[in-house]
Amino acid sequence: MDDRLFFSATQRNKAAIGDVLSTYLPDSGTVLEIASGSGEHAVSFQTRFPNINWQTSECNPTYRKSISAWINYQGLSAKMEQPLDLDVEKKPWPLTSKLRTTLNGIVCINMIHISPWSCTKSLIYETSTILKSDQFLILYGPFKRNNKHISHSNFQFDIALRSQNPTWGVRNLDEVCKLATENGFKNPEVIEMPANNLSIIFHRK
Ligand SMILES: C[S@@+](CC[C@H](N)C(=O)[O-])C[C@H]1O[C@@H](n2cnc3c(N)ncnc32)[C@H](O)[C@@H]1O
Repeated sequence: MDDRLFFSATQRNKAAIGDVLSTYLPDSGTVLEIASGSGEHAVSFQTRFPNINWQTSECNPTYRKSISAWINYQGLSAKMEQPLDLDVEKKPWPLTSKLRTTLNGIVCINMIHISPWSCTKSLIYETSTILKSDQFLILYGPFKRNNKHISHSNFQFDIALRSQNPTWGVRNLDEVCKLATENGFKNPEVIEMPANNLSIIFHRK
């Protein structure tokens, strides 16, 4: 049985996100991905950055199966660990001491608008306790700027999200940044991405 899932957005955005990562990833080291979803990003980034140990995580067991299936399908089983069962709200996160000590940064793609605001709070709080000085947290997704949508399609997407679950929704970048600075991150770099998305790069103070 093939447990691989196919998320169409990943095929559209993986090259552009990979380009951002290429600026911030160290030459070698370990990155933890939160909410790895299908696992398509993970195997793409592991292939593009072979000297990085790309550690996936996911709270949804069906998605974890997909991640494992993608790792296997791409012949990366010897290189990549299996996905961690990680729900950002269940703190502390279940990271081994080896992972905690070798970690260089954390990446979270397209999660914070498709989960309650409490997940964003947990994500930022927990990453701030794990990351050391100058290590990075990279977020990717749609954001409001100055509490305004940056495109009509984001506005419509926000309505669709909130009708699916009132606790979801496109977040205001200023609020995310305020939370991050309150939790020990420097002001972020903001990179405009295709399809009205942003990459936000926070570094720990
Ligand atoms: C739109 S998908 C994005 C998946 C993947 N990062 C991508 O870009 O294709 C949203 C992801 O957030 C995850 N998620 C939602 N709530 C979560 C939580 N409390 N802890 C960790 N992940 C969560 C979902 O399981 C799902 O994988």
